[in-house]
Amino acid sequence: MDEKAYNMNPSNLTPRLRGVIGAAMTPLKLFATAITLSLGVAAVSQAADAAVALLKVDDASFKCVRQMSPVRHFYVDNLLGNINATLAAANAPQGAVYPAGSVVQLVPTEAMVKREAGFSPATGDWEFFELAVDAQGTKIGKRGFAEVNNRFGKNCFACHAPAREPWDFVCESDHGCEPIPIDHTMTGALQRSDPRCGPAVPEAGDTMALFKLRTMVVLGATIGWFKSLF
Ligand code: HEC
Repeated sequence: MDEKAYNMNPSNLTPRLRGVIGAAMTPLKLFATAITLSLGVAAVSQAADAAVALLKVDDASFKCVRQMSPVRHFYVDNLLGNINATLAAANAPQGAVYPAGSVVQLVPTEAMVKREAGFSPATGDWEFFELAVDAQGTKIGKRGFAEVNNRFGKNCFACHAPAREPWDFVCESDHGCEPIPIDHTMTGALQRSDPRCGPAVPEAGDTMALFKLRTMVVLGATIGWFKSLF
C-alpha cells in the first residue's frame, strides 16, 4: 500500500479529500471546544471549592466570648458572617448540623470551629482548639481534629462523640457526653472574666467559683504531671 495514504499532511492530499476532512474537522472542533468549556467549568467550580476551603482560622478569628452571641449557657459566632444559620442550628429543638464557619465556646480557652463540608468527616468537620487568652487577645495553643487533647490530657473528640447524632457533637448538659467537672457557675464566671473584654463583670459567687476552678486546674495539672512520671 502507498504510504502516502496514511500521511495526513494536507499538502499530500487531493483537494477532494481535503474537503471531506475539513468537513469532518468541524464537529471535531466543536467537540474539542465543548471539552475545553467543560474543563473550564470544572476548573471554575474547583476554584469555588478551593475558595470555601480557604476559610482562614487564626488567632484573629477568636474574640472575647461575651462579644459572641449567647445561646443558653454558651456562645456562638460565625466566621463567614452566617450567624443566623448558626443560631438556628444551636436553637433547633431536635438538634441540627451547624453551618460552616460556626464557632462554639463554653469557656474562653476552648473552641470548636466548623470547617468546610468534607474537611474532616470523622469529626463532623469540627476543628478543636485550645486557646491562650489575655488582655492583648488570643493565641492558638493546640488545634486539630480527632487527635487534640485538653490541658488534662483528655481527648476533645472522644468526649464529644456521643453527641454526634443528632446534636452535631455539641454536648451541652444532656446530650450523652461524659460530664466535665465544671458546672455552669464556673463556666459563667470564666465567661464574665474573659480578659479580652477588659475588666471582669463578676456576679455573686464568681470569686468562689474561680477559686474552686483554679484549685481543680492545679490538681488536674499535678495529677497529669504525676502520671507523666510513671
Ligand atoms: C471529659 C470530656 C470532655 C473533654 C475531654 C472535652 N469536652 Fe468539651 N464539653 C464536654 C461536656 C460534657 C460539655 C458540656 C458541658 C455543659 O455545658 O454542661 C462540653 C462543652 C464544650 C463546648 C461548648 C459546646 C458544647 O459541646 O456543649 C465546647 C466548644 C467544647 N466543649 C470544646 C472542647 C474542646 C475544644 C476540647 C478539647 C480541647 C474539649 N471540649 C474537651 C466534655 C468534654
